[in-house]
Parts: sequence; structure tokens; C-alpha cells
Amino acid sequence: MTDEAGEERPDAWWRNAVIYQIYPRSFADGDGDGVGDLAGVRQRLDHLASLGVDALWFTPWYPSPMADGGYDVADYRGVDPLFGTLAEAEELIEEARRRGLRTIVDVVPNHVSRDHPWFRAALAAPPGSAERALFHFRPGRGPDGRLPPNNWVSEFGGPAWTRVTGPDGSPGEWYLHLFAPEQPDLNWADPRVRAEHEAVLRFWLDRGVAGIRVDSATLLTKDPALPDLVPGRTPDPHPYADRDDLHEIYRCWRRIADSYPGERLLVGEMWLSDPARLARYLSGDELHTAFNFSFLQSPWDAERIRACIDATLESHEAVGAPPTWVLCNHDVTRTVTRYGRADTSFDFAGKRHAVPSDLALGTRRARAACLLTLALPGSLYLYQGEELGLYEVEDLPADRLRDPMHVRSGGTDPGRDGCRVPMPWSGTAPPFGFAPDGTNPWLPQPAGWASLTVAAQDGAPDSMLTLYRSALALRRAATTRAGTPAGASALRWIPAPTGVLAFGWGDGLLCVVNLTPRRPVPLPGGHTVLLASAPVDDGTLGPDTAAWLRAGGDDEPPSVVT
Ligand code: GLC
Repeated sequence: MTDEAGEERPDAWWRNAVIYQIYPRSFADGDGDGVGDLAGVRQRLDHLASLGVDALWFTPWYPSPMADGGYDVADYRGVDPLFGTLAEAEELIEEARRRGLRTIVDVVPNHVSRDHPWFRAALAAPPGSAERALFHFRPGRGPDGRLPPNNWVSEFGGPAWTRVTGPDGSPGEWYLHLFAPEQPDLNWADPRVRAEHEAVLRFWLDRGVAGIRVDSATLLTKDPALPDLVPGRTPDPHPYADRDDLHEIYRCWRRIADSYPGERLLVGEMWLSDPARLARYLSGDELHTAFNFSFLQSPWDAERIRACIDATLESHEAVGAPPTWVLCNHDVTRTVTRYGRADTSFDFAGKRHAVPSDLALGTRRARAACLLTLALPGSLYLYQGEELGLYEVEDLPADRLRDPMHVRSGGTDPGRDGCRVPMPWSGTAPPFGFAPDGTNPWLPQPAGWASLTVAAQDGAPDSMLTLYRSALALRRAATTRAGTPAGASALRWIPAPTGVLAFGWGDGLLCVVNLTPRRPVPLPGGHTVLLASAPVDDGTLGPDTAAWLRAGGDDEPPSVVT
């Protein structure tokens, strides 16, 4: 990052930060009601500091009826009593800061909760009113307006429209919700919506947060004509995704972020398959970074992963933005489970119940993926429990499932509860230190997590936690020595056989990953092994194994040969 005088800015922390995602409901329960909260997070800051991450991203903690895990916000300036109070959030931000951990909050600009005062007022007001203009209300089509205004489908299944009833019980207008009916979409063409969100950004930036994650960041603006979609065809421009008028909104947000000291980050949640379209938001005066979901969707395949890395680096380098890397989050199947399946890619549409997974294989690959991702230039997101190698819980009792993605699919989609099961901290039986003994966590934890608790893994040489701690410490040392290796030029591919990825990174370091299912490959000579995801004592890298090496002073360019 350079300033106006062209000087390198030393404080662009977000260019190579490791950011840990906290799903507050499932991190740690401080008050014993079975639901995680801010008191729980404050008790567990040691874990986060000792892990060696740079920042914490909290999924929404605002007052909410929790129809979508808090992504249905009723008040953007508060904290839900389930999680604590605003004062506690302020204390948490400060305590984390004292431990060198920055805080990122999640802002949800596309929609509000049905309980948000604006929506309540809109329901109470007549068609055509200023209150309704904050949302997308329309009369229905067909006889008596019985049919939705257009054919858009909700991201969670079913129509993207719900009809309201008037005070006398008669059917009235319909309102748009790209997600659940409990999440009415805001009308971003209305200046009051823009002004309110600008004020919300300032509210949290004033409280010392280092960044904002922008939820559903490509969906805010809509074609005012709300045209039907033609099945099987992706229109250009799309009526509600990645529209050109979004850029001006983010330019304004960037000016707000930049008016605060200390490089406040804006990171967009953007599911865009075209890296060039994604990069348009990252060209310097809009968002700083965006989640790179194409990496998370890539199967465990050397060619595909390398192609994704190259496309990501190239598109980001073109606009001077650092890439990000993410393997898992609160919306997708946990990495260990995904990598243990026959199909190791991720796709929301393809999620089904009971797809077999070899968890030992998945864990082996997740360990290798840890070293692969932490060696890549740019910044990285870790989802709580990834550092423990938690797997997706796929046998949750049906009556405990909460996720609207499951419920609205009529049960065919398993939903996202399986990756949101409360963290295991200690002990040999649930609630595994997540909550005081005797407490029933909001989702049941598998008994098999006894060996995956933080306490069980702490200091154990072969544990996932030890691997993450060691890798994060080495990465930090390497990036400090080499400055901020954020761009494509920080990664140098090295010749390697099919199925093997090898690249130089940091200051004289080498990362070699063997993604082949059966074939061991010899490690290059003249190197010292710094860290490996599985034993490499015989000088070979086994299948689904990665290692970090340091050059031993040999001037020969390294290569991996069979
Ligand atoms: C984002 C969130 C997801 C939520 C959705 C609607 O995709 O990550 O959890 O359901 O937005 O707000």
C-alpha cells in the first residue's frame, strides 16, 4: 500500500492479516444458558491470542429475532441480550485490542429484520407511503394480485416475495426478500437507507472497530423495474446482483472508513465467480478486500487449486489489492468433512444429507491445506474450530435444526447448523467447557469431540491446534522479515510433478504440497524442513501432505522431482 507520496504505508495490517471468525452463539457460553455470548468470548481471549491471529470478525451480535442466526437485524446499534450488552461489546473491543487483536463487525445492509422499526412502520403504513418506500413493496400480479410481482426465488428457496395483510385482514401488497421472509430487502435507491448505513458504519468505527464485513455485498441495489428472470439465462446486467450502481455506495463507505485513523478495513462478502468482476470492487477507492470464495469452492486437486490461485493473484494484482483465502465459514461444510468426500468441491446447490466422508482422509488434507493457505500471499480467514479440525456434525436431531436454508428447502438441504455446533474447549463429555457443566448447548455436540477439545490438543505435538499455532508463528515471522508479501510477485511457482504444488514464499521459504492420492514425492535436497503436516522423516512427502522448507544456502533453483 502506498500513500499519496508513493511511500509504502507500514500500517496496512489488513494486507496480510489472519482474521479469525467468531460465531458468538457457538464460541463460548459465559452465562450458562446454552448459547454463546460476549462474556464467553472475553473469557477465551487467551486462546485467540495464543493462536497468533491478528483480528477477530464477529458475525452479527445485534438485537435480532434470530430467524437467520442474527443476520436479521432489528437494531444495528445494539447487542442482543442473548449475547450481552453494548457496554460489554465496547469492553471486548478494548480488551482484544490490548492483546493485539483487532475487531471486525458484520454489517448487514441488504435487509433488516421484520422486527426492525422501519419495517414495522412500513407494515402499518398504506401502499405508496414514505415508510413503504424504504423497502420493495409491490402489488401482486394475476387475479386479485394473488401472484408475486415477479419470479425471483429466495436464496433460501421459495419465492422471494411475501404478501402482507392490511389492518382489516384483507390481502395487500407483496414485499421482496432475497433471503427469508423475516429479512425484508431495503430499497437502496432511497437516500434514507444510504444515510442510515453511513451512520451505522460511523457508530461502530467510533467504537474502535478495525473493520467492517459487508454482508451479501453484491445484492444491495435492484433494477427498479424488478424484471422477471429468464430461467437458465444469466442476464447482464443482473436485476439484483453485482450492479454498477453499487460501486458509488462503496466509494462513499471507503471515504468514511478512510476518515478514521489506523486503516479501517472494509471486506465484502461477494459470491462472484468471475475474478475480474470481483476485482472491480477492490480498485483502491471502494472495498479493501473481498472473500475469495472460488478458493473455498475448489476441489482438492492440484491443477484446479493452482488455477484458482493464479486467477486470484492475477486479478488482484491488476488492481493492487491483496487476495484473501478462505476454506470455511459459518455458511459452508466444514473443511475436514468436505475434503473427506468423493467430491471435494463446495456448492450450496449440491448440499445433501448423509454424503459419506472419510474423516481421517479429510483431516489429513485439511492439515496440508493449512500449510498451503498460510503460505499464500495476502490475508486469510479462519473459522472457529478450523484450528481444532472440527468436522461437520451431520447427525443433528431434525427437531434441533434452526437454519432457514434447511427449513425452507422442505428438509432436502441439510442447512448450515452442522458447521455451527458449539466449540469444544475441555473435558471428556458435552458441553466440553463450552458452557458450565450440566448446561445443554443450543446444538448438541458429538461425543467424539472429546479428542478435539482445545485442552486435549494443547501442546500435543501432532494436533491440528499445534500445527496451526506453529504455522501462524512461522508465517508471522516470515511476513515480518519480508515486509508485506501481499501481491502475486510474492509467490514463485517451482517446477513440480503432476499433482504437486511447490512455490517459494516469504523470505527464502518453500511450500510443497502433495495432492496425489497415492504417490510419495521426494523433497528437494539442500533444504531444512520447518514444518510438515505429516511425518517426512524419510525425505519424502506422502500423499495429501504439505511441508514448509527453508533453503540451505544452495544457489541452485529448487525443484521437486520424482
Ligand atoms: C450471508 C451470511 C449468511 C446469511 C446471509 C443473509 O451470506 O453469511 O449467514 O444467511 O448473508 O444475511
